[in-house]
Amino acid sequence: MNQSEVTPKNIVLIGFMGSGKSTVGRQLHQRLGYPLSDMDQLIEQTIGKKITAIFKEEGESAFRDFETLKLLEIAKQTDTRHIISTGGGIVIRPQNRSLLRKLGYVVWLHAPEDVIYQRTSRNRDRPLLNQENARERIASLMEERNPWYEETAHLKIDTAGLDSNEIATGILESARYFFTQPA
Ligand code: S3P
Repeated sequence: MNQSEVTPKNIVLIGFMGSGKSTVGRQLHQRLGYPLSDMDQLIEQTIGKKITAIFKEEGESAFRDFETLKLLEIAKQTDTRHIISTGGGIVIRPQNRSLLRKLGYVVWLHAPEDVIYQRTSRNRDRPLLNQENARERIASLMEERNPWYEETAHLKIDTAGLDSNEIATGILESARYFFTQPA
């Protein structure tokens, strides 16, 4: 029996805020035709509030509960050919990390700290970085989370210098290989 028979064919994108998950997710969706499940968007639709409002009014731990519930919902889907774009903190919980591995091919989009800082400083939609010392916050969160991304991913892509089209091409080539390997 090979991976194609036992493993759901979802492609799951993980990585820090601003690493390009949503953009690359849209590229993969366009090129493969698989539906795109953007977890932050799905949570906003379900709760009826923007992520910033959820953090402000209900707190981070409530958001983490919504995130795990959404992941459990996705894991129950019978159609397992989706592109799943996650929020940067999805790897915090061990339960989420093991669920993600079971969902399909997990790709970690990695970008250097200064690139993340440049990208995320352009908007105020990320409650965890809406503070004076955003740069230090990025550094400490990355240090804490990198081992979890590493542990969860089947593939790590260093995105520096690559555009979203090139990143999507790399993912598609390696996913094709992964899904045809013996389990
Ligand atoms: C978060 C990342 C965000 C969003 C929330 C928390 C995090 O998603 O889920 O603001 O803890 O890293 P993006 O990675 O899409 O910005």
